[in-house]
Amino acid sequence: MLLILLLVLSFVGIVTAATDPPTTAPAPPCPEKWKEIGSMCYWYSDNVFRPWSGAQSFCNDIGGNLAGTTDKTLADVEKLISSTLYTTWTGLNKINATNWQFVDGTLFLASQWSKGEPGDGRGNCGAIRSSPVPDNNGYIALGCQYSQPFLCSQKFASCPDTNFTSIKGSLTSPNYPDNYANNEYCIQRIIAPSGYFIALTFDAWIVQKDKDAVLIYDGYYPSAAANLMATITVDPTNSTLSPYPNSFQTKSNVMSVIFKSDSLINYKGWHANYQSFTPTDPGYQNGTSGTLTSPNYPNNYPNDVEQYQYVTTANGTQIQATFSSFAVEGLYNDYLLIFDGPDQKSPVIGNFSGLLAGVPDSVKTSGNAMTLYFFTNSLINFKGFSLDWTIV
Ligand SMILES: *[C@@H]1O[C@H](CO)[C@@H](O)[C@H](O)[C@H]1NC(C)=O
Ligand SMILES: *[C@@H]1O[C@H](CO)[C@@H](O)[C@H](O)[C@H]1NC(C)=O
Ligand SMILES: *[C@@H]1O[C@H](CO)[C@@H](O)[C@H](O)[C@H]1NC(C)=O
Ligand SMILES: *[C@@H]1O[C@H](CO)[C@@H](O)[C@H](O)[C@H]1NC(C)=O
Ligand SMILES: *[C@@H]1O[C@H](CO)[C@@H](O)[C@H](O)[C@H]1NC(C)=O
Ligand SMILES: *[C@@H]1O[C@H](CO)[C@@H](O)[C@H](O)[C@H]1NC(C)=O
Repeated sequence: MLLILLLVLSFVGIVTAATDPPTTAPAPPCPEKWKEIGSMCYWYSDNVFRPWSGAQSFCNDIGGNLAGTTDKTLADVEKLISSTLYTTWTGLNKINATNWQFVDGTLFLASQWSKGEPGDGRGNCGAIRSSPVPDNNGYIALGCQYSQPFLCSQKFASCPDTNFTSIKGSLTSPNYPDNYANNEYCIQRIIAPSGYFIALTFDAWIVQKDKDAVLIYDGYYPSAAANLMATITVDPTNSTLSPYPNSFQTKSNVMSVIFKSDSLINYKGWHANYQSFTPTDPGYQNGTSGTLTSPNYPNNYPNDVEQYQYVTTANGTQIQATFSSFAVEGLYNDYLLIFDGPDQKSPVIGNFSGLLAGVPDSVKTSGNAMTLYFFTNSLINFKGFSLDWTIV
């Protein structure tokens, strides 16, 4: 009998699970074990004791700072630490003869001092006392060397779902260049006019290795969830570390970028520039070196491309260009022309089709200008080319 009952119950359980809607609740703003007070997350060390500066390092290590409080949050914070007999370090410290400040930038109001505080010469760090006698509640000045329990705080995770519709711009992690929060889950989408592609290039990157990540999708997330281009957890701007390049190009007019951080340790984050382009927009380069690629490289180029790229360097220099990759549809169905000068009227120094084995290692201009013309027909596309140039 008991056995049957169990079977029936487990059967009901399965049916219920199958018909439950998927969980869509947003992630809570505070990491596990941190308490939400006001618009901040607080973590009380309880039986971990440190001198003030050690406590600040501890808080930094878990993604925050020694806490600041406002008049409004003080009573709630006192409740949080009321289990202790000890005064508890906060981020308050004396910065000069007359002024006290919180390390996390919260404005300190003198109304938070406990009665008679800060007494003369008692110390330069601010601890909080929770007492059944209301007058004794609040902040007291204490010598920074004492080992006390402490209170850390950090910002809420918060990043609204955002669409970017300008042709060019930049994306960053939340709060950049200040640290991002823990538990972030941000979706940013670049939406270009139809017929455009999007190129995104990272130029700064400091996130927690293997824990915090950027995911790049070709298309509109979530519907494009299957078109994952990369999950980046190590510095894409450093080619010796990262399996990915620092630059990504879509084959559609939408790119979605998701940033996730875990519940511990946060850094300054990342910055990337994007540019929407059509495969036929001309390209211009200056300076002393650079890389020219076919549209959409390292992904396949599109059909029906006619693209000019111009390089102009300082007077008196020449340009040497070396292929690191070349694969276009052969027999001059698709081809690349290189001109020795500022436009397509200049002499041809390269006329290439097919694979890398069929092109010379490098070409060199006689002057300070080089022009590339890339043509593709309406059939069959390959990866294209990548050409590194430098002045000589
Ligand atoms: C103490 O620091 C505050 C804030 O930086 C400043 O406004 C004030 O002038 C300083 N006072 C003295 C006496 O240095
Ligand atoms: C982003 O764009 C999509 C498609 O146009 C739209 O459905 C969505 O509401 C937009 N989201 C925001 C936050 O503007
Ligand atoms: C790239 O990473 C390697 C390995 O950590 C490091 O030695 C090198 O300095 C980094 N290069 C740059 C440009 O940061
Ligand atoms: C940069 O390149 C463009 C086209 O290649 C050229 O018109 C312009 O004069 C160049 N600028 C400099 C400073 O060389
Ligand atoms: C380079 O030379 C051209 C032609 O002589 C001249 O018009 C131009 O001003 C020079 N540019 C620079 C930056 O010196
Ligand atoms: C490039 O080479 C192909 C095949 O030899 C030829 O048909 C074409 O005219 C050449 N183009 C130029 C601009 O020299």
